[in-house]
Amino acid sequence: MIPLVRLSGITKSLQGNQILTGVDLTVHSGEAIAVLGRSGSGKSTLLSLIGLFDRPDGGSYLLGERNITRLPERRAAALRSAEFGFVFQRFFLLKHLTAAQNVAMALVNGQGWLPRRKRRAKVMAALDRVGIAHLAKHRPPRLSGGEQQRVAIARALVREPRMLLADEPTGALDTETGNLVIDVLHEATKEGCGLVLVTHDWEHANRMDRVLRLSEGQLGEAR
Ligand SMILES: Nc1ncnc2c1ncn2[C@@H]1O[C@H](COP(=O)(O)OP(=O)(O)OP(=O)(O)O)[C@@H](O)[C@H]1O
Ligand SMILES: [Mg+2]
Repeated sequence: MIPLVRLSGITKSLQGNQILTGVDLTVHSGEAIAVLGRSGSGKSTLLSLIGLFDRPDGGSYLLGERNITRLPERRAAALRSAEFGFVFQRFFLLKHLTAAQNVAMALVNGQGWLPRRKRRAKVMAALDRVGIAHLAKHRPPRLSGGEQQRVAIARALVREPRMLLADEPTGALDTETGNLVIDVLHEATKEGCGLVLVTHDWEHANRMDRVLRLSEGQLGEAR
């Protein structure tokens, strides 16, 4: 089977500092990968390259069969919203909207117009996948941190991305809540999407299918 993502020899420097010196990474459908590494090692930089927020200086990037190493920005932006779901340490929810409306925002922004009934069905399915369909009408200030992060994960999943990219999604949560969020993310890969999870937590990393470490600009096996 063709991997979802194949990076080879990816290099990146930021303001004269060589951050990535030759990253190789293959992600298959349904595979959950953890990336560990000390602060400043380039984990977020790597995620932003995978998620097409930024471009590598060298190397190659295949998304499925497509070589997207040097895609014009407009097409990269279209791919970014069609193929990737993002989860961050901060939830970035809109406080005045309900959980369901927050999730629906991802459909309005990314998929043009969908009939209301279809949109609602997708939103509820996404909330259900992360176990909070019953909180659909709640606004973020009434939700716990873990619940808010699950809304953010539902928002990332609602467009059925090929790849889920999570940058320290448990950084703002206590251990127990963090474990739950990690399980929700891992569970999402059962429907076939790939997951790259950046984390400082070895225990969380160990729940993934593979654990990699970013060190001196390259990715290697961590266990
Ligand atoms: N926009 C930028 N311009 C210049 N340097 C940057 C930029 N973004 C990040 N860097 C530098 O690149 C290096 C890698 O940063 P990055 O954010 O990828 O690390 P990280 O592994 O995610 O760290 P952390 O675990 O603290 O989140 C750091 O030295 C950082 O200071
Ligand atoms: Mg980071």
